[in-house]
Parts: sequence; structure tokens; C-alpha cells
Amino acid sequence: MKKYNTEQEKFWAGRFGDEYSQRNQGKNIIASNTALFTKILSKTNSISSIIEMGANIGLNLIAIKTLLPGASITALEINPKAVKELKKIPCIKVYNESMLEYIPDRKWDLVLSKGVLIHQNPDKLEKLYQLMYDASKSYICIAEYYNPSPVEIPYRGHKNKLFKRDFAGEMMDAFPDLKLIDYGFVYHRDNNFPQDDITWFLLKKLHF
Ligand SMILES: C[S@@+](CC[C@H](N)C(=O)[O-])C[C@H]1O[C@@H](n2cnc3c(N)ncnc32)[C@H](O)[C@@H]1O
Repeated sequence: MKKYNTEQEKFWAGRFGDEYSQRNQGKNIIASNTALFTKILSKTNSISSIIEMGANIGLNLIAIKTLLPGASITALEINPKAVKELKKIPCIKVYNESMLEYIPDRKWDLVLSKGVLIHQNPDKLEKLYQLMYDASKSYICIAEYYNPSPVEIPYRGHKNKLFKRDFAGEMMDAFPDLKLIDYGFVYHRDNNFPQDDITWFLLKKLHF
């Protein structure tokens, strides 16, 4: 396996990441993602390009592709087995790289992270916020686990692999031209379209 700098990258590139992709599949997840992105995208204008950081096997991107069929879609993913699945989705560009090493050579209308910042080494967040800001032409969507102050919680028996905090608030502090467009919560016991208790924030760059 390729060498990574953080224990969190090794964790996701290896067996835990392979098993995650096996566990998290299916039409119900795509249905829930379609409901979520219908809401989020309805608050946006003129999105024709999207990148998802940590796209796994593409269950968000499949949903987004049905909502924005003309958009060009890019996926960044560290786990090689997940990348194999991503490459089966027609017309998406896939990079098998870590967000911590990726140097984009273009910008996208929407930069998305969903359930990914929560798994990064907290010391690297500043770099990741900069990456997401620089890669965005207009919108940034952060759908993660919210907590007003940073906390680490055990993740399936593993330490140092899951962190909750106010990712969107920290980004708005770091980049004052980001405007909050909307936000929301999706409960794991939602009657129709559950998510894993995520809180999403849609931010827009006022200067670009
Ligand atoms: C919890 S999953 C979420 C997947 C997807 N975003 C979703 O909402 O279903 C986290 C994903 O991020 C990927 N990932 C974790 N760290 C990464 C990194 N540093 N760079 C790129 N991908 C990463 C993992 O391999 C995994 O596919």
C-alpha cells in the first residue's frame, strides 16, 4: 500500500475502508441521498461542475447525477477498492488520491464533503479547509457530524478516527467571504429518507 502521513489516511485506504464500502451499499441509501441533495441543490443556481472529496463508491454522486444530469462530476477517493467501483459510474472523473495530497488544477461550482472531514486528523483541517475553499468557484457543502466544540468519539472500536465539531463555522471564520445559504439536519430515524444524523451546511463564496 502507498505510504500516508496520517493514521487516519492509512485506516481508510486499507481494510477498514474496504469493509466500509461493502457495508454501505444499496438503493435505499441512494434514495436518501437523492432526497437530501434535492433539498440542498434547490438552494443553488447554475451548478455545472461538482467535486466530492471522499466519494467512496459514489452513492452521493449517483444521486446528484440524476438531479443535475448535465453537470460534470469529479470524485476524489483514497481507497483503491472504492475507486474501482467509482470508475464503473459513467462519465465521472475519478482521482485515487488523498485530500491531503491532492493539488487541484481547476475549480468546481460545488465542492462537497459528506462524512469525510469527521474522519481526518484534526491537525490537518486548516489545510483541508483551504483546499475546499480554493477548489470552489461558488458553493461549498459540508455534511458532517456537528458539535459546537471539537470532540473525539470512539468509532466502531477505533480511537482517533472520528471527530465532531463545527466544521462549517470554522470555515466561515477562516474565510469571511463565505456566506451561509442554508443548513439542516437529517435524523437516522427519518420515516422515509434517513441519513446518519448528519448536519449539512451550504456555503457560498461572495468573492471568487
Ligand atoms: C464515511 S465515508 C463517506 C463516503 C461518502 N462521502 C458518503 O457520504 O457516503 C468516508 C470516505 O472518505 C474516504 N476518505 C477518507 N479519508 C480520505 C482522504 N484523506 N482523502 C480522500 N478520501 C478519503 C474514505 O475512503 C471513504 O470512502
